[in-house]
Amino acid sequence: MSLSNYKISSEQDLRMLGNMFVVSRALHVIAEQKIADLFEGNQAKSVEELVKQQPMSATALRKILRVLCPFGIFKENADGTFSIEEIGQTLKSNHSSSMRDLLFCEDCRWNSFGQMSQTLQTGEAGFSKLYKQEYFDYISKHSNLQARFDDHMKAVSAKEDLIIAKYLPLENRDKIIDVGAGKGGLIRAMLEKHPEIVGGIFDLKDVVEQESKALSKKYGKRLEVFSGSFFDPLPFKSDGLILKRVLHDWDDASCIQILSRCREALSDSSAKIYVIESLVKGEEDPALFRIFDLLLLTVFGGVERSAEVYESLFSQAGLKTQKLISTNSEMSILVASK
Ligand SMILES: C[S@@+](CC[C@H](N)C(=O)[O-])C[C@H]1O[C@@H](n2cnc3c(N)ncnc32)[C@H](O)[C@@H]1O
Repeated sequence: MSLSNYKISSEQDLRMLGNMFVVSRALHVIAEQKIADLFEGNQAKSVEELVKQQPMSATALRKILRVLCPFGIFKENADGTFSIEEIGQTLKSNHSSSMRDLLFCEDCRWNSFGQMSQTLQTGEAGFSKLYKQEYFDYISKHSNLQARFDDHMKAVSAKEDLIIAKYLPLENRDKIIDVGAGKGGLIRAMLEKHPEIVGGIFDLKDVVEQESKALSKKYGKRLEVFSGSFFDPLPFKSDGLILKRVLHDWDDASCIQILSRCREALSDSSAKIYVIESLVKGEEDPALFRIFDLLLLTVFGGVERSAEVYESLFSQAGLKTQKLISTNSEMSILVASK
């Protein structure tokens, strides 16, 4: 079976599609609980052996593995043991192209999707309806969720950061600060590519604290670490600010506030803000992009936007659009200045 063409035409397929949430959840749980790590190489294992390695219900584990067999992730052997197929190997944490951190859907995210009827009625994020607070506030109070989210973003951004570092036009910037930088992958890529520049990262305190030692050790005075909220005045001035995969987590009013804070932090009229996002293009938008767009609403109350909508947000935040740069990735760079 290939999922490269998603169009279905039979009632059986429709029924299958309606129950694919079971498959998704099985995959999340396998990734979260690091079940693939229990298999050494291609070695076949019985569920009895697996539950000795990691305490679990043998009955539930067998069912979860069996659900994933028809999709070519695991294989059920004639003697009742299971092995991992080639694509399933990428669920291992130490695989060179590990997908484990990308298959991220902790219980609190998952529960948000149970609120989708409410989201449909009100447009409100299922997450905040259920937990009475926003996603980032919630995970900041649960260090395991915060760490898992940061690892997830690192995995999402790993390849694209190298591409963006090539495309982002520095145009004599002295200093570039990544706002909402997560683990700082993009700034690392920028500093490696441009040995003449200095940089900085800014994010919530708990997020940057973990990275700051390693970054300071590696880059010394070339990299400054700042913490705080981008809804408050920013604790620096710079002639280059980056916002990557940040604005799509927020509604328009919040985006205008974040952009306004960034505008205030620009050192002069030639300073630039680089907003890096996937852009809505219309009917050719791929299925996975549409799924993420709904996910953004459900979990964060966020939204993917077109270039035109970003330009309107810039203007409402007192910024002028300078240019739009496409990259050979799903991400585009919108450049704005005062
Ligand atoms: C979707 S992640 C993007 C991370 C990184 N820019 C990337 O592309 O991998 C959004 C980031 O915004 C940060 N963030 C959320 N609320 C924030 C706030 N109020 N102030 C500063 N950073 C915040 C999160 O901690 C997270 O690192």
